[in-house]
Amino acid sequence: MPTYIVLLGPPGAGKGTQAEILAERFSLPHISSGDIFRENIKKNTELGVLAQTFMSKGELVPDDLTIAMIKERFSRPDCVRGAILDGFPRTPAQADALEVMLSGFGGKVELVPFFTATDETLIERLAGRWTCRANGHIFHVRFNPPIKEGVCDFDDSPLFQRDDDKAETVIHRIHVYRSQTAPLIEYYRKRGILAEINGSQPIEDVAAQLMGILVK
Ligand code: AP5
Ligand code: MG
Repeated sequence: MPTYIVLLGPPGAGKGTQAEILAERFSLPHISSGDIFRENIKKNTELGVLAQTFMSKGELVPDDLTIAMIKERFSRPDCVRGAILDGFPRTPAQADALEVMLSGFGGKVELVPFFTATDETLIERLAGRWTCRANGHIFHVRFNPPIKEGVCDFDDSPLFQRDDDKAETVIHRIHVYRSQTAPLIEYYRKRGILAEINGSQPIEDVAAQLMGILVK
């Protein structure tokens, strides 16, 4: 039975950080819609050019583009056993599309861990985040510093600060989350698969709470 897990929560709640841990522990692909868009921007693809106009303002990329991109990702064979989804779905229309996509190969969303944290925490985390150029590994200047400043521990690639982590863009992204993505909390709660996680705890404690829910 394939295992599909959707990580839900506001910008900076720790979705990417926990997705990395889960993907490694369960040997499942980590599918981050934001990372795929950033990869396309780096390669200057048609999708990347379009997505950048929305991402730089902290707006969501339109559903049709996002759904088509995720469909393409799901067409690859590594997704048949399951996946850790980070940043997708982000609207009810995307969640409906995901349900249809997964049913195509006999899968469904099993669990939706929903990370909570205060706005101050989110802003502090995003202001200090450093991401690796090569593979998107995530660090924080205080909460999860790399061994060597400015260099990824895992692949030696340089670390950079995301354009959309500027304070004013972060505040807008939090508003966008509340108006367009937060409806998914009820969407998945109604299906009985939402699991609220206190995302304000240290990284290892969040991971332990998550593992307690997953390995029952
Ligand atoms: P995306 O890349 O998905 O960004 P996001 O959802 O805004 O979330 P973040 O990546 O900022 O935060 P995170 O929860 O992953 O936190 P992280 O683990 O890094 O999307 C970017 C943009 O792409 C969107 O604005 C939109 O334009 C577009 N997009 C993407 N998907 C889309 C979709 N489906 N539809 C439409 N548009 C889409 O942690 C943050 C920092 O905190 C790090 O420094 C980390 O080290 C630190 N940290 C993490 N956990 C802890 C902890 N427990 N304690 C202390 N520090 C912690
Ligand atoms: Mg992320």
